[in-house]
Amino acid sequence: MILLGVNIDHVATLRQARYRDEENTFGGFVEPDPAQMAWLAEDAGADGITMHIREDRRHVQVEDVQRYQEKMKTRLNLETSMSLEMVQLAQEINPDSVCLVPENRKEVTTEGGLDVCGNIERANEVVRELLQNGIPVSMFIDPDPHQLEACAKIGAPWVELHTGSFARAWYDSERREKELSILREGMRVGLELGLRVNAGHGINYENVEGAKTLESIYEFNIGHSIISRSLNTGLVESVKKMRTLLNQ
Ligand code: PXP
Repeated sequence: MILLGVNIDHVATLRQARYRDEENTFGGFVEPDPAQMAWLAEDAGADGITMHIREDRRHVQVEDVQRYQEKMKTRLNLETSMSLEMVQLAQEINPDSVCLVPENRKEVTTEGGLDVCGNIERANEVVRELLQNGIPVSMFIDPDPHQLEACAKIGAPWVELHTGSFARAWYDSERREKELSILREGMRVGLELGLRVNAGHGINYENVEGAKTLESIYEFNIGHSIISRSLNTGLVESVKKMRTLLNQ
């Protein structure tokens, strides 16, 4: 059984498109509401919820996460950068897990994997600090054996393999097979190193057919496609459908 984590960030992206400049970007008649959508995704069978608080708060707000936590039914995976401020905030929020991601001010969504090899000292500090405070840490990385080895070396218990290149290659059979074999090798190396291996980014209702062949992946984190489909079908159907496709 492959688990489904639903990334709810794009609900906040849509809300901010209208309410960014309001004094309050949450609560009252401010829609759509990420907390409400997260609860609905849980009712539809999501195994967990992911939210990313960015350094400039341009999408999800701290209050969104706190409101979700008041009535959450599954678990919260909080994505953050490795900055001092964000790691401190993550500990105040006290989620069920943290996924460390790179952050680039201009990007609309996370674009590449974290360079753990190139930032090993800081990554080591952050992983230790979070683990000491009882928060399991996942590192969002490209499926590169060197990055996987660096994660294992600093004692990160989980990784999330970046599936963006695979998703972009989906309609070209040669590239798709190449990207799938890179992911398969990343999954194998990760498991051999004793890591829990999650995956995500760019997975949709078509390429999930290839993604699910990576059957040792513990959990896929999927956002954009589920939220997009929900505009047509409603969120309950879009979550249920993805969960079924992942495990058919
Ligand atoms: N995993 C991580 C670490 C992410 O930052 C994101 C969002 O960019 C996702 C998974 C989900 O990606 P998508 O929205 O393309 O499904």
